[in-house]
Amino acid sequence: MLTVENLEKRFVSHFLNRKEIVGFPSVSFRVDRGKALGLSGPSGTGKSSVLKCIYRTYLASSGTITYESTACGRVDLTALPENEILKLRRTEMGYVTQFLSVLPRVPALDVVAEPLLAAGVPRTEARENARGLLQRLRIDPRLHDAFPCTFSGGEKQRVNLARAVIRPSRLLLLDEPTASLDPEAMQIVLDLLAERKTQGTTMIAIFHDRSIMDRLMDDIYAMPEKETAS
Ligand SMILES: Nc1ncnc2c1ncn2[C@@H]1O[C@H](COP(=O)(O)OP(=O)(O)O)[C@@H](O)[C@H]1O
Ligand SMILES: [Mg+2]
Repeated sequence: MLTVENLEKRFVSHFLNRKEIVGFPSVSFRVDRGKALGLSGPSGTGKSSVLKCIYRTYLASSGTITYESTACGRVDLTALPENEILKLRRTEMGYVTQFLSVLPRVPALDVVAEPLLAAGVPRTEARENARGLLQRLRIDPRLHDAFPCTFSGGEKQRVNLARAVIRPSRLLLLDEPTASLDPEAMQIVLDLLAERKTQGTTMIAIFHDRSIMDRLMDDIYAMPEKETAS
């Protein structure tokens, strides 16, 4: 369903005399439909940057990302027009980062319900769903109407995750989604992700904890080592 071929990302630093920084050297892998692929490697090897190239937060420097989409057919995500990328994000691609960045004055419930509203679900039903999901993730009901910007790291992370999984997505990108969670919350999140997987969601994920990778992922891709600068 997704094939990455010879993907590379380089950054040009304006602080270092336009010197190039390698995000990651040539990366190639494929993920079949309904499968989960983990990206592994030490910090700085470009795992997050690969996910950002797929979600197109970053433009790849070279290579291709072939994706069999529902909305636009077979596309190369490195070259797809912006409006189609936005359409894919709205309808079938989800992305969970380690950090939540939300508007300061939107209650948690609305942050989570928003993707459903955007998909045309009536407001009452969307909020009801969001409430159920937040409850499942053990977010205190008293916090549902509060602003997530005041939440703890672990609470923010669960709101972030709830927002990303409330609408089933075809392709879900996960960048250390359990990094700030205690063991109990982590288990709930992992169960939820496993459930999405059985519902057919394809995943590409980064987990700090190798045992989580082994449990949830079908395959693991080891990031190539960068050549050390001479
Ligand atoms: N926006 C950016 N500008 C410049 N360098 C970046 C940027 N994003 C990532 N990098 C660099 O790319 C490399 C890979 O980063 P990252 O993808 O975050 O690695 P990982 O997630 O494996 O820790 C690092 O050397 C990092 O400094
Ligand atoms: Mg990272």
